[in-house]
Amino acid sequence: MSKLTNSIEWNAVKQHYQSIATNYSMLEAFNTDKERFHKFSRVFNDILFDFSKNLIDDQTLPLLIGLAEQANLKQKTADMFNGAIINKTEKRAVLHTALRNRHNTPVYVNGKDVMPQINGELKKMRAFSEKVRSGEWKGHTGKAMTDIVNIGIGGSDLGPKMVTKALAPYSRPDLRIHFVSNVDQADIVNTLEKLDPETTLFLVASKVFNTQETMTNATSARNWFLEQIKDETAVKKHFVAISTHRDNVVNFGIDPENMFQFWDWVGGRYSLWSAVGLSIALYVGMDNFEQLLEGAHEADQHFRNTPFSDNIPVIMALLGIWYNNFFEADSHAILPYDQSLSSFSDYFQQGDMESNGKSIDRDGAKVDYSTGPIIWGQPGTNGQHAFYQLMHQGTKLIPCDFLAPAQSHYHLPEHHDILISNFLAQPEALMRGKSEAEVRKDLSAEENKDDTLVASKIFPGNKPSNSFLFKKLTPRTLGTLIAFYEHKIFVQGVIWNINSFDQMGVELGKILAKAILPELKANDEINSHDSSTSALINYYKKIR
Ligand code: F6P
Repeated sequence: MSKLTNSIEWNAVKQHYQSIATNYSMLEAFNTDKERFHKFSRVFNDILFDFSKNLIDDQTLPLLIGLAEQANLKQKTADMFNGAIINKTEKRAVLHTALRNRHNTPVYVNGKDVMPQINGELKKMRAFSEKVRSGEWKGHTGKAMTDIVNIGIGGSDLGPKMVTKALAPYSRPDLRIHFVSNVDQADIVNTLEKLDPETTLFLVASKVFNTQETMTNATSARNWFLEQIKDETAVKKHFVAISTHRDNVVNFGIDPENMFQFWDWVGGRYSLWSAVGLSIALYVGMDNFEQLLEGAHEADQHFRNTPFSDNIPVIMALLGIWYNNFFEADSHAILPYDQSLSSFSDYFQQGDMESNGKSIDRDGAKVDYSTGPIIWGQPGTNGQHAFYQLMHQGTKLIPCDFLAPAQSHYHLPEHHDILISNFLAQPEALMRGKSEAEVRKDLSAEENKDDTLVASKIFPGNKPSNSFLFKKLTPRTLGTLIAFYEHKIFVQGVIWNINSFDQMGVELGKILAKAILPELKANDEINSHDSSTSALINYYKKIR
């Protein structure tokens, strides 16, 4: 038995779970306890976090907090913020929080304060983005930039893509942004088709700068560029690198003067706060990028300094563990009622699943409990017409987060009220359900005779959700929300005693793909794999 499942705290939660799972009704709890919303909601700046629609009573949170305490969360949090080498397998500190440390207090890695480097890079980002945005930065033929293309994948793509979509109202129509990530040529070809090489700036973002997809796309972009501009010296004005690996950047042929750097203590999926966010700064301006950092920094302060019972990311994490480990929920849905957050759940698919999709604990032992959930979702109201049926009446328990802004950036107020009425109705419907008596009341006498119809219209209810309602999706609020989710992931990783900051599980596929690539080029029949893989290779070669 692991230390976690053997702990007094775990077993206390387990026992408590039995009583909640057998006969707890949220609706009844709301009816009998008029204070329920006040007890189970917290406000941070203009963000209201309502977690009252959960399968919890007055005892639940204190018991779950016991799990955080037995895992020594307070100390582990301090270790992360203070630059301790907490990513043990890669022997690295984990300091995305330093990137947004707006108080600028020193943060030491191996005895060296990293803040001067961070501030230097931010200064460089400001100078460059202002030049590009003002038109002072001219392309090879003397024209200002109109299109920015970020070439990257995973953490070098998803964060900036999500944030630039979310902050589109802060952008300018004369500076467009594009993201190319997939090695499927359709991605780069469809993007380049729309572009003029004379006014296009490519940002090649890759932590290691040898990622197959990114290097392939960057090479194709450069070939496309040179086919038209026909002058190698022009590359300097149109290609910028963002990386931790200067040598790889130089080998690829990008001038180190055009390189923005970050460091190995920034995990790829936590890197949007670093120079990887250059596309954000270019698109919405450096002031807005810094507001994003401010919002995240405020969340960091809240996370570090607030008692667990009032700590929003800690509560998010504990509720996640409650459902994941005790109710055996496999997934967690993120459901923003805001079209501009349409990539928010994609972003946290990597953020959460690459971080906590582990089955070996920090001491190398196989865990005997479930770890990271499947993260998924899409914006409301679209999701309502796709998968909410299963959430309401299916056999699976799907805890979820609803997020919405009270104010839209756009100007069709009727839309927003409809959107928000749905944002409010869905968690209510999930919690309340619809009883047989209520169903029968709504049906005609004739319909009431049809028991199948009656049964199919019953909603069991009692389905948990969190709601985040905030004033407006500003850069600052977005920064706070992202950081809340990041810290939720961290807290869960601490309690599950796993390393949330490596990603060994993506390596094997990469290695096998590298071995298969030359086999696709060779003429002979392939028999070196299992019969399925070999047959697929041979069939591909026959029909391509
Ligand atoms: O998918 C594995 C991974 O290493 C991610 O962790 C990372 O975000 C992505 O590949 C891209 O890596 P890089 O930024 O080094 O190109």
